[in-house]
Amino acid sequence: MLRESDYMRLMTFVRSKYGINLENKQQLIENRLSNYVSERGFSDFTTFLDAVFNDKSGFEIANVINLLTTNHTYFMREQEHFRHLTDSFLPLAEKTVRDHDLRIWSAGCSYGNEPYNLAMCIDDYFGLRKRNWDCKILATDISINALMTAKEAVYKKEALAGLSQQWIDKYFVKLSDNMYQVCDKIRNEVVFRYHNLMEPITFKKKFDLILCRNVMIYFDPPTKEALCERFYNATEENGFLYIGHTEVMPAKTRYRKQCPAVYQKTASERTGGDEHE
Ligand SMILES: C[S@@+](CC[C@H](N)C(=O)[O-])C[C@H]1O[C@@H](n2cnc3c(N)ncnc32)[C@H](O)[C@@H]1O
Repeated sequence: MLRESDYMRLMTFVRSKYGINLENKQQLIENRLSNYVSERGFSDFTTFLDAVFNDKSGFEIANVINLLTTNHTYFMREQEHFRHLTDSFLPLAEKTVRDHDLRIWSAGCSYGNEPYNLAMCIDDYFGLRKRNWDCKILATDISINALMTAKEAVYKKEALAGLSQQWIDKYFVKLSDNMYQVCDKIRNEVVFRYHNLMEPITFKKKFDLILCRNVMIYFDPPTKEALCERFYNATEENGFLYIGHTEVMPAKTRYRKQCPAVYQKTASERTGGDEHE
C-alpha cells in the first residue's frame, strides 16, 4: 500500500523534476507501480522509493517515469493542425525558410505517431520538391519506453485507422496481417532524443515549428508559463507553436494566437522580445 508520506515525496519529486502534477492521483500511482515494486523484489513502497531516490544511475527513476507518464496518442490527432500545416505553415515556410532547412520539434512525442505523421504530411506536400529540403523532425520525450517503441515504428493495424488507405500503402510496410511499420523514407526523417521539458532548451538552432500537444495539460500554470517562454526563445521569427486544443496558453505569452491552438512568433513581437534578451 502507498502511504501518504511516500505518495507526498514521490509527488513532490515528480512535480519539481518533470513538471507532472500528480495531485489527487494517489490511487492511480499505487495501481501503476505496485506490480513493478514487487517484481523488483521490494516488500513495500517505502523501501522501493528509498532505493529509487538513492540510485545515482537514474535507472530506477527512468522506470518509474515510464510507468507514471500518460502516453496516449494516435495518428491524425487534432486534424486541424495537419490542415494548418499543409494550408498555411508549409506554403509560408517555402517562401521564408532560409537554405531549405526546415526545423520542426515534436516535444512530448510519445510513441512517435505525431512526428511520423508530420513527416508524412511534409513528404506528401512537397512531393518531388522534397529532395531540395532538409526537413528532419526532432522528437523528444522523458519516457524511455515510449522513445524505444517510437524508434521501432511498428503499429497495430487499428492504430492506422485515422490514415487514408493511400497513405498506409505509401508510408507503411506490412509486417503481418495486424502489424505495420513506418517505411524507411519516413523513419529517416525523424530523430528521437530524450529531453525533459523542465530543463533549458539547448538545441543549436531555433525551430520553425514546435508542437507541444497534450503535454502541458499535466503541468501547473507557472511551469507552463516558463516552458512557453523557453519555447518562444527557441522559435524562429514567424515560426509557430501548436498546443493541444483542450489546453490553455498562459495569458502572459509573447506568441500571437493565429487560430485555435496555433500560435506564432510574429516579427513585431520578436523585436519587442529581443529587447529583453
Ligand atoms: C499524452 S502524450 C501526448 C503525445 C502527443 N504529443 C499527442 O498529442 O498525441 C504526453 C507525452 O508527454 C510526455 N511528457 C510528460 N512530461 C514531460 C516532460 N517533462 N518532458 C518531456 N516529455 C514529457 C509523456 O511522457 C507523454 O509521452
